[in-house]
Amino acid sequence: MARPCYKPSHGERASKGGGIMTASPIISILNGPNLNMLGSRQPELYGHETLADIEALCRTHAARLGLAVEFHQSNHEGDLVTWIQETRKRAAGIVINAGAYTHTSVALLDALLAAEVPAVEVHLSNIHQRDSFRHHSYVAKAAKGMICGFGSHGYVLALDALARLIKGSSQT
Ligand code: DQA
Repeated sequence: MARPCYKPSHGERASKGGGIMTASPIISILNGPNLNMLGSRQPELYGHETLADIEALCRTHAARLGLAVEFHQSNHEGDLVTWIQETRKRAAGIVINAGAYTHTSVALLDALLAAEVPAVEVHLSNIHQRDSFRHHSYVAKAAKGMICGFGSHGYVLALDALARLIKGSSQT
């Protein structure tokens, strides 16, 4: 007899016996160049927290929301493109602070447009109060929305927004 075909969605995986196991949906949190310097980098703009502090904050908050987190940082554009491509297969959403690549990278825009999962753009600083070259974001063209100016709390707000979007899409 033919087995019913069921494709596990994000947050689900097939068990050995063919049943469906529910796991927490994965959110891929991506950080671009120079964000590894947080804590010592222009603290008057970016605050005193390190990227490790922000990762811990995200993990704690995501757990409250029933989400799992993969947290990455790279100074190389191609690494970010590869991680975005990988989310397509494994993650339910993306939080991205692309750092300076926000303002320059068509490659990141194209990867996000192909990702087929919602992305929320985050910036620690309010980029609209800064140099005019920071006012334009390529990432914004592919993101559901942008949060900027709230420091590390922006990552928490982005996770809240994604949790809502993911819940909404599973109820349709
Ligand atoms: C940033 C803003 C960008 O303009 C800048 O290049 C960064 C950090 C932010 O989080 O405020 O590296 O993305």
